[in-house]
This record gives sequence, structure tokens and C-alpha cells, in this order.
Amino acid sequence: MLQKRPFGLPEKDTWKLVKSSIPEIQDGEFLIRCEYVSLDPAMRGWMNVNKSYIAPVELNDVMRAGGVGKIIKSKNPNFKVGDFVYGPTGVQQYKIANGDGWHKIDPSLASLPMYLGVLGMPGMTAYFGILEVGELKEGDTVLVSGAAGAVGSVVGQIAKIKNCKVVGIAGDSKKCKYLVEELGFDEAINYKEDDVYNKLKEFFPNGIDVYFDNVGGEILEAALVNLAMHARVVICGAISQYNNKTPIKGPSNYLSLLVNRASMKGMVVFDFAKDYDKAAKQIGQWIMQGKLKSKEDVYEGIENFHETFLRLFTGEKMGKLILKVSED
Ligand SMILES: NC(=O)c1ccc[n+]([C@@H]2O[C@H](COP(=O)([O-])OP(=O)(O)OC[C@H]3O[C@@H](n4cnc5c(N)ncnc54)[C@H](OP(=O)(O)O)[C@@H]3O)[C@@H](O)[C@H]2O)c1
Repeated sequence: MLQKRPFGLPEKDTWKLVKSSIPEIQDGEFLIRCEYVSLDPAMRGWMNVNKSYIAPVELNDVMRAGGVGKIIKSKNPNFKVGDFVYGPTGVQQYKIANGDGWHKIDPSLASLPMYLGVLGMPGMTAYFGILEVGELKEGDTVLVSGAAGAVGSVVGQIAKIKNCKVVGIAGDSKKCKYLVEELGFDEAINYKEDDVYNKLKEFFPNGIDVYFDNVGGEILEAALVNLAMHARVVICGAISQYNNKTPIKGPSNYLSLLVNRASMKGMVVFDFAKDYDKAAKQIGQWIMQGKLKSKEDVYEGIENFHETFLRLFTGEKMGKLILKVSED
């Protein structure tokens, strides 16, 4: 459970692991054995009390998280023992639910971790973020930051499916190699070693049509310098700023939007919930056709939540970060 609000990078005592007995389920409820929990950058924001798109996690509440699990007891006719479900498990091993916000998933079609990645919230974010918010057109030039991560890797692959030139930005050479050699990106930039401004000039001689921003900060500034006329900047996230101890600083060069008649638009994936099924079907098809690859990085043990969560900020993981919480 969340026991204190972090200032900067969360410390180990931000959370406390507690044991409690599982209450009996009531009519309409079911008991889920949580198998995997999704670790997302947004969880850092949910610990703050600032105004946001969702209420903060209260102190002494179970840490909020999406997850997948198996129903092991049920008094709800729509959810049967043995069904697998996706929903707001929280970071815990068992969850009692009544059905609201829960979706059945089929582990014979895809692995359980995939339902937290490419077929889950990050995949939906990528799909609607690049196609609808970014208004992607065939042949656009596309830049994506956080490119080897859960959202970014899918954004770049969708843009390749749409015959775009795609450049990804990631934090080490292994990730850059993966983007180009395995995911088919045209180029990759290692922001920790390369000169991002000059690389963008080299790779986008006529400017960037769509910048999908997962990180904010200096990389956003570098992208704004290199926009093409009528460019679209999708503000999906700003992970470089989430643990700031000082207020977030916006880009000083935002007038590039004016000069280039460009737009910058924020998005929240939940706004597209009514169309998730359509997106999941299309993503599933692309996977079956070999056009889209997914990667999940799964760590084990609820007691390792803190160290595993921090991997989002150190970058020590590949693809979608997941914690297996169930006991074997
Ligand atoms: N708006 C929405 O509805 C929505 C929904 C889902 C996610 N998001 C946002 O999308 C972004 C990506 O989420 P995700 O789940 O796909 O996470 P992710 O990319 O799988 O993991 C985070 C990655 O961010 C990179 N990173 C960490 N600190 C950084 C820094 N200071 N500068 C640059 N890169 C840094 C790390 O990769 P490197 O090794 O490359 O540094 C790390 O692997 C986040 O900002 C998240 O908040 C938004």
C-alpha cells in the first residue's frame, strides 16, 4: 500500500507490503488471483495530490495498477471460476471485484503479459495517439521518443505499417539496435550519447511531420526546432519530468508551432475506451501478419515492486515492464 507521498524518485518506504486475510465474497462479486501487474509511468503521477485526469491514490490504499488474473471464486453470473480477466487489480495478489471495469481475456489467443502491453493500455495509447491525435498520413516523417518502451515501440511500428519514415529515440545502443534491426525503424538516436539536435537535422532534412512525445524536456525542445510545416506534436507523456523536485519547465521554443503552423495536442487514452475493441482487433491482426512485434519484460515477486518500478526511470528494461505477483 502507499504509505507516503514521494518527493522526487520514490524511495523504498514509499510503499509498505502488508498481509491481510481475504474477506468472503458477497452476491455479485468474484475473487481474482492476480497474476501479472502492469508497471506504468503514470503510477508516479497518481501518487501526487496535484489536479490530474484521475484522483490520486490515497495514503494507506493499495497502490493503483492495471493487471490480469484468474477468477477463483464467483457469485457473479457473468464472471465464472476459471475466467481470466483484465482490470484494476492494484499491486496485490488477490482482488475482490463486482465486474465494473473488468474485461474477460482469452489466454489461448495471446499470453497474459501481452494483455498488459501491446493488447492493453499501452497498445491502445499508441494506436489512438499516433493515428487519431497525431493524424498520421501515409508517407509522413515521424519521430518518437521513449521509442523502445511499451507505447513508443508500438507507435513506431504502426507508423512503419503506414509507410512512414520513422526515427526513434532511446537511452542505449542495445535499444537503438533493437529498434532498427528488429522493429524496422529507419534510424535510432541514443539520447545519452548522440547530439540529438544534429541527428534530427540529419535524419529530417525536410522536418518532422509528427513528433510523438513520451519524454518532454530537452528532447521535446530539440524536436520543436525541427518541425515541418503543419506538423503535429502528440503530448503523450513527459517521463523526464515526473520525478522533478522543481516545477516542470515547458519548451522555451514553442513559437516554432507558430512559425510552422503546427499543433501540439495532449491525449489521455481513456477517452478512446469505446473503440478499444476495434483497436485491439487491428493490432491483433498486425501481430498475426508479422507486421507488429511485442516485447514484455517480466520481473517476479510482489516484494520486488519498488526496485522493478524504478526501472521505468533508469530505463533498465526492454519493452513493456510487468511484475508477476502471483505465488506459484
Ligand atoms: N497519455 C496517456 O494516456 C498515456 C498512456 C500511457 C502512457 N503514457 C505515457 O507514455 C510514456 C511512455 O510510457 P510507457 O508505458 O511506454 O513507458 P516505457 O517507455 O515502457 O518506460 C519508460 C521509458 O522512459 C525512458 N526514460 C526514463 N527516463 C527518461 C528521461 N529522463 N529521458 C528520456 N527517456 C526516459 C526509459 O527508456 P530509455 O532507456 O530510452 O531512457 C524507460 O524505459 C510515459 O510518459 C507515460 O506517462 C501516456
